Amino acid sequence: MISKKDTKFLEKLIDKFDDSKNKKTYHFPLLEKGFTNEDIFRGIEVLLSRKLTMSEITKKFENTFAKFIGSKYALMVNSGSSANLLSAFALINPKKKGRLKPGDKFIIPAICWSTSLWPLVQCGLQPKFVDVNINNYCLDEKLLKRDKKIKAVMNIHILGNSPNMDMLSHYVKKNNLFLIEDTCEALGSKFRSKYLGTFGDFGTYSFYYSHQITSGEGGMVICKTKEDYDLLYTMRSHGWDRGLNNSSKTKKFNFINSGFNVRGMDLTAAIGLSQLKRLKKMIKSRSKNRNSIVNKLKNHTEWDNQYTFFNPNKNLKPSWFGLPLLINKDLIFKKEKFLKYLNNSGVETRPILSGNFLNQQGCKLYNFKYKKSDIKISQEIEDRGFFIGLPTNDMSLGKLNFLTEKLIKIKDF
Ligand SMILES: Cc1ncc(COP(=O)(O)O)c(C=O)c1O
Repeated sequence: MISKKDTKFLEKLIDKFDDSKNKKTYHFPLLEKGFTNEDIFRGIEVLLSRKLTMSEITKKFENTFAKFIGSKYALMVNSGSSANLLSAFALINPKKKGRLKPGDKFIIPAICWSTSLWPLVQCGLQPKFVDVNINNYCLDEKLLKRDKKIKAVMNIHILGNSPNMDMLSHYVKKNNLFLIEDTCEALGSKFRSKYLGTFGDFGTYSFYYSHQITSGEGGMVICKTKEDYDLLYTMRSHGWDRGLNNSSKTKKFNFINSGFNVRGMDLTAAIGLSQLKRLKKMIKSRSKNRNSIVNKLKNHTEWDNQYTFFNPNKNLKPSWFGLPLLINKDLIFKKEKFLKYLNNSGVETRPILSGNFLNQQGCKLYNFKYKKSDIKISQEIEDRGFFIGLPTNDMSLGKLNFLTEKLIKIKDF
């Protein structure tokens, strides 16, 4: 443990390396000062112990995460992508009851992330892209139809939002489908009284930079049954039985299944655990900051409906990731120049996820079948949308003014 005297020394050192205090003007990155002194201390303690790899702290993080989220099992991995990878490969594994077969179809929203889609494709499954809802950018549950070839849903909770989980859960149950909830952008959002990620067979989370909590890199996958947990556990580390309750007592290197190496680390687990303690506070600040930005823009003398804001789904208590904005249709032609201006003046922007993913070059290689007319909203969100970060501390009035004065000016470009 770091003593009080050491703490003082380290605080001075951290302060010396903090370049944000030298910045004279306001800026608005996706995430500012993502780590507190406390987070850094917990990381340093692990470094000093010289035991960086997965061990007791990872286990503690998993147990604390499972308890927080309300899931029976949680397994730490090295990224949200790896959490998706394990979930996808679990669905086709010989150990999985009712496992999927090559060519089986799965539903995925057309606004998706690369590693929400590809692990399932790498498993030999075929995507059926479904359009999203213009109000929340998530899978439009009203478009879900009965189709015997569809065996699973990869749902994505975009930027803290969600589809109507009552309807999605009903559809999944009625048609006897597997459900993976990619919750990499929505840790802490609740639909009714349940955290997102806990509705499906598997829920996945990312702790990458600027997500609801960050440990630099890192991820978590949750599941409901011991069978699924043991399967994920084995696949996480080479297909090995080491550490399982029923592992071989006589053979040390016993590989009981296929696998990867996507283990977490005690170093990142210690930082993640420290961040998880602050999650509720950060959710509050992000929500407050979002409301301040939206209100300030809407009450600005120059407000002329330049943007449409996205709304939490009914019954959702959101944990925002960032603030997405849809540019008014009449102003779309200004988007490129305007975003360049924002980025050059310190307001970092990103596309909404990666836009309509079917436009990505990688998809052309795979010749996915779809009709453009079926994914019109996803295209509209790509054309009109961008997002900015939301600070995890309550932001100052100066910063709020800096941002809104920039955003309101889009018409001038
Ligand atoms: C929806 C979604 N899924 C998966 C991922 C992958 O997470 P990671 O970067 O931790 O691999 C991301 C990353 O931003 C994401 O936004």
